[in-house]
Parts: sequence; structure tokens; C-alpha cells
Amino acid sequence: MKITGVKGVFYSATGNTERVVTAIARGIADKSWVSMEIQDFTLPENRTAVHTYSPSDLVVFGMPVYAGRIPNKMLPAVQNNFKGEGALAIPVVTFGNRNFDNGLIELRNTLESSGFHTIAAAGFPACHVFSHKIAPGRPDEKDWKIISEFAEKAADKADRMERIPEPVAVRGDDPLGPYYTPLAQTGNLRSF
Ligand SMILES: Cc1cc2nc3c(=O)[nH]c(=O)nc-3n(C[C@H](O)[C@H](O)[C@H](O)COP(=O)(O)O)c2cc1C
Repeated sequence: MKITGVKGVFYSATGNTERVVTAIARGIADKSWVSMEIQDFTLPENRTAVHTYSPSDLVVFGMPVYAGRIPNKMLPAVQNNFKGEGALAIPVVTFGNRNFDNGLIELRNTLESSGFHTIAAAGFPACHVFSHKIAPGRPDEKDWKIISEFAEKAADKADRMERIPEPVAVRGDDPLGPYYTPLAQTGNLRSF
């Protein structure tokens, strides 16, 4: 399948997802000899536009994992501001090396529901924003090598594809269970 452009799309409050998505999108664009554009919807003013894609676009869509899911406050933006219209997509999550739990499958399903066709997916560990002692220095040199190989393989896969495949298989619960709800020491629901 001939792709004519790669988009790197992300929400990234502390920059991990931005770095990973940008590297993957750049790698795919270079390998496929097409242009690459970044669409960063981290700031509220960048969440007003609705982006519409076409079947010859490949969208690398990245989100961080919060409490095992994609950030709940950002879910409406992911659902409403990006219209696949048949574009190929690669859901990517970064997580603080605890677990990505249902984050990746939630992102995959949301993109599929918005008219994207997911062809590859990945979860990459990155320094946890809660503490520099959790996953320090990640992605590290080894991770960047894996990230770059992933981009090359994804570009090859898109290039060799003759028809739209089934949604990419990822680990996680489908349907998703309820959100994690922190409890106070009393065992009651904690209010924020
Ligand atoms: C509120 C919150 C919840 C998080 N929950 C998880 C989690 O469940 N599992 C995990 O491995 N990392 C978790 N993390 C860490 C982030 O997923 C990780 O640091 C991510 O790379 C941050 O991406 P960003 O730099 O693009 O914002 C959490 C971070 C925050 C702020």
C-alpha cells in the first residue's frame, strides 16, 4: 500500500510520548521517502481543531498510560478530534515501566472506532513521571534501537500490504473493565 504522508500525533505532558512518537514517525517517513508532520494536542488550544486523514496517510498515534488506561480526561479529544477516514494507524503508548495494562488496547479500539485501520502497535517503557527512580533513563540506548527497528518493520509492513488487515492484535481486556479507583485508608472512595 503506498503511503503518501506520515503524521506523528500525541498528547505528552512530560515529553516521553513526544520523543517516542517523533522517532517512530520520522523513521517510517524516511524509510518510505515521504513527508512527516507532527500534530501535538498536549495544550488545550491545540485541541480545538478536528484533524481528518485519508487512506494514504499513516498516523503514528501516541498516548501515555495513566492508571493502566489512556488518560481519561484526554479520551474525548482522541475520540472526537481525529477522523481516520480509512488512514492506517499505529497506536503507541509510553508507560513508566509498571505496566501498560489496558492502555494500548483502549487506544487501538478508539482509533478503529474513529475510522483508522491499525496495522502495528507498541508499548514502550519511559521514565515514570512520578519519580526519576522508576525506569530512570528510559528509553535507553537499547530501547531506541528497538524503537528504530519497530519503525522500519512498520514501514515495510505498510509497503507490502495489499489489503486492509484485521485490527492489530494487542494484549488487554476487551471489553475494558472499570477505571481504577484509589481508596482512602478507610477503604472508602477517595475524593479529589
Ligand atoms: C497520573 C499518572 C498515572 C500513571 N500511571 C501509570 C501506570 O499505570 N503504569 C505505568 O507504567 N506508568 C504510569 N504512569 C507513567 C507514565 O505513563 C509515563 O511516565 C509516560 O511515559 C508519561 O508520558 P509523557 O512524558 O508523554 O507525559 C503514570 C503517570 C501519571 C502522571
